[in-house]
Amino acid sequence: MCRCPRTEESIFRKRILKLRARLQHLPSTAIRLMKRTPELHGLSEDHHDALVLARKARRAGVGEGALSFTEAWAEVEARFASDLEPHFGVEERVLAPLLEARGASEPVARLLAEHQALRDCLHADDERTAASLLQFGQLLEQHIRFEERELFALAEEVLKPHELAAVGMARPHSRERNHLRRRT
Ligand SMILES: [Fe+2]
Repeated sequence: MCRCPRTEESIFRKRILKLRARLQHLPSTAIRLMKRTPELHGLSEDHHDALVLARKARRAGVGEGALSFTEAWAEVEARFASDLEPHFGVEERVLAPLLEARGASEPVARLLAEHQALRDCLHADDERTAASLLQFGQLLEQHIRFEERELFALAEEVLKPHELAAVGMARPHSRERNHLRRRT
């Protein structure tokens, strides 16, 4: 059977379209209920926390919720450094090369581009406004949905058990659980 990169890419594209069709009807709250292979549980827990942060940012960005937009921005910056950057690092250093090796270059490119777009939202020179907070919250939510519904579903389908284990083991375990579920 031909395993050239072009053929593999079209196989992955078909798999992604199938996964997308299967999962697109799910509400966002279903993400945490989706069955996930045990190796990816830790990263999926991170995703749940990130969704809570995204919601908090979106609400503060439109003047709702318990936090002002300046308070919410401060929390976003702290959580980005303590939680999101380490999480992105695992996906970029470990998960992305494994998927790339299987020809899944399109979803990997999207993963990297969205991580960069999120980092750009926190550029030090930019003013922290309610509008930029709202934009960050929307981007983060869309990104997490993409990862849970497409990227991780694809990883479960195409990676070998020892590769999934390597991804799970790369996640920092010492990190304390945060308080994102509070004060929403
Ligand atoms: Fe992620």
